[in-house]
Amino acid sequence: MSAVVVFESMFGCTRAVAEAVAAGLRDGGLEAAALDVAEAAARDDTVLRSELLVIGAPTHMRGLSTPRSRALARARGAQPGDLGVHEWFDALPGLRGRRLAVFDTRGPGRFSGSAGLRIEKLAAKAGADLVAPCQGFAVEQLDDGRALVAPGQLDLARGWGRSLAVSTARSAPGHGRAVQPTP
Ligand SMILES: Cc1cc2nc3c(=O)[nH]c(=O)nc-3n(C[C@H](O)[C@H](O)[C@H](O)COP(=O)(O)O)c2cc1C
Repeated sequence: MSAVVVFESMFGCTRAVAEAVAAGLRDGGLEAAALDVAEAAARDDTVLRSELLVIGAPTHMRGLSTPRSRALARARGAQPGDLGVHEWFDALPGLRGRRLAVFDTRGPGRFSGSAGLRIEKLAAKAGADLVAPCQGFAVEQLDDGRALVAPGQLDLARGWGRSLAVSTARSAPGHGRAVQPTP
């Protein structure tokens, strides 16, 4: 079974979390790769063939990035691509019934908002099958506007990936079916 982790990242935090999630998925026995959203857009076949699609994005203005928020990130030294998760997701075909899990990176605190919850809403509308609640991973904001993954979050991300792999394998067709004795 295979999984793909598709992410968007301005300062490298969501990329690092996505790579840790992919490592956790492999720990749990799935084939898994992390692709940034531009790579994913060029490889629809790989994305759509996978048994589990995991999507991660940085929280911008309490939701998903927009051309405007990406321009703000650029002004803080990031090098975002032109494509965000929102635009990519809107153009992705065949989501009905697909197994999907979502995460985001965000600042600490109750008022941070969540890019992941926004993706969940889009996914539910497209008829995808959300296999786990959205998972947030904390970043620390530097004074110059850049961000760093908060301590311990990459270990959490790897553990989350592993648990996703285990539950995906359990829900696969044929799991737990009694083996028929050979006559
Ligand atoms: C334009 C902009 C808006 C942001 N808005 C929020 C926000 O509303 N809530 C939040 O928790 N973090 C916010 N952040 C911080 C980002 O969540 C943080 O930079 C991101 O998680 C880092 O991940 P990345 O390195 O993958 O881009 C914002 C960052 C930028 C650049």
